[in-house]
Amino acid sequence: MPDLLVRGVTLPDASVTDLGVRGGRFADPADLARPRVIDAAGLIALPGLVDLHTHLRQPGGEAAETVRSGTLAAARGGFTAVFAMPNTDPVTDTPARAAAVAALGRAEGSAEVVPVGAITVGQLGTTVADLAALHAELGLVFFSDDGRCVQDARVMRAAFRAAARFGGVLAQHSQDADLAGPTACCHESELSERFGLEPWPAVAESAIVARDVQLARDTGGRLHVCHVSTAESVEVIRWAKARGIHVTAEVTPHHLLLGTALLASGDTTFKVNPPLAGDEHIAAVRAGLADGTIDAVATDHAPHTAAAKAQPFPLAKPGMVGLEQALGVVIETMVTPGRLSWADVARVLSSAPARIGGLAHQGRAVAVGEPANVTLIDPSRRTRVQRDNTASLSRNNPYVGLDLPDPVRLTCWQGHVTHEDL
Ligand code: DOR
Repeated sequence: MPDLLVRGVTLPDASVTDLGVRGGRFADPADLARPRVIDAAGLIALPGLVDLHTHLRQPGGEAAETVRSGTLAAARGGFTAVFAMPNTDPVTDTPARAAAVAALGRAEGSAEVVPVGAITVGQLGTTVADLAALHAELGLVFFSDDGRCVQDARVMRAAFRAAARFGGVLAQHSQDADLAGPTACCHESELSERFGLEPWPAVAESAIVARDVQLARDTGGRLHVCHVSTAESVEVIRWAKARGIHVTAEVTPHHLLLGTALLASGDTTFKVNPPLAGDEHIAAVRAGLADGTIDAVATDHAPHTAAAKAQPFPLAKPGMVGLEQALGVVIETMVTPGRLSWADVARVLSSAPARIGGLAHQGRAVAVGEPANVTLIDPSRRTRVQRDNTASLSRNNPYVGLDLPDPVRLTCWQGHVTHEDL
C-alpha cells in the first residue's frame, strides 16, 4: 500500500489543500515516503460514502449479486461502507449468520460490509430475533426486516424495547399489508388506473410511519424509516422530530429523481417497493432532504436477475440497482439546483448514515489522523448511463439512457484505492 499525495484537492468546506495518505490514515504531506502523486486540481474530496441500505444477495442470491460484485459496484459509486440487508437466504437473524456475512466482507469486499440483523426470526414478523445476542456478539446496532414490514404492532413494540436496552435502531420498511399487499405495484393515482396496475396508496407507507413514531416514543426506542417516498411520510417525520422522538429517515436516489409515469413503458426495471410516486411526492422528499427532516440518502441497491424481472409487471421482483449512480443523482437533483452544498452532501451520504448505523470509524472528516476513507469527485463530468458499464451482476438499472453526473474518479478505503478512473 504506497503512500498517496493528493495535490490541490478541494474539501467540502471549499478550502484547497494537499492531502497525504499513509498507513491507512490521512497524514501530513511532509511525513510521506516516496508517495504516488495524484493531481487533484478541480476535484472535491468527500469522506467515503456510507450506504445504509444495500442488498448484496449473498448468501442465496449469488446469481443477482455477491459481496464481491456488490462492493465493487459500491467502490465505483464512491462508497467505503455498505450495510448489507438481511433478506438473504438464509435470513441474517442469528450471530452465526451475521458473522458469516461480515467474514465474506473481510475476505471479498472492496468496501466495509456491515451486516444488518433481522428484526424478526426469518423476517416472518412473528418472533423478535435475539437482538441482544446480535449486539453482544457482533456489535450490531442496526436491524431491519426490509423487503417486508413488521406488521404486528405488538411485535414491533417488543422489538423496540429489546433494542432500546443497548441503543439499537429499528429500520422499518413501511408498508401496511392491508392497504398495499404483495401484488400492489403502482403508486395509487390517475396513472395506476390508466396502466391497469394494482394501486399502492401513499397512506400505506405513512400510516406505518405514524404508528412506528408512536411506538418509538412509547418505548424510548429508535426508529429509522427506510426509503421514504411520500409527502405524508415526510410530514409525519417532521412532526415526530419536532417532538424529540428518536426517528431518522432515508430517501433513495430513485425516489429523488424518478416518477410513476415511467411505468407507462411496462418495463419491470421500474418496479420497486415503495413504488415510484408523483411529482408532489418527489418535491416533498427533496424538500425533506434539504431541510434535514430526511437525514440520509441510501441506495436500496436491489439487484435482480433478468429472469426475476422478465415477468408480468405484478409478478416481477421489485427493486432496482443504485450504488453506481447514487452520487450523480444527488448532484443532479440537489446540488445543481442549489439545495445542498458539498458539506451537506458529505453529511447525507457519509456522516449521517455512519452515525445512524453506529459506525464510528466511517463518515469522519477528511483530516490528518482520521481513517483514509475518501472519494475524489469531478462534479462536472457527465455520462449517458450504459446498461453494461457496471460492476454489478444485475442489469436492472433505471438510469440507463439518462445523461447524469458521473463524478467518481477515485475511491480510497482505509488507505487502499478500491476504484480509480483518473
Ligand atoms: O424494491 C425493493 N426491493 N424494495 C425492498 O424493500 C426490497 C428490495 C429487494 O430486496 O429486492
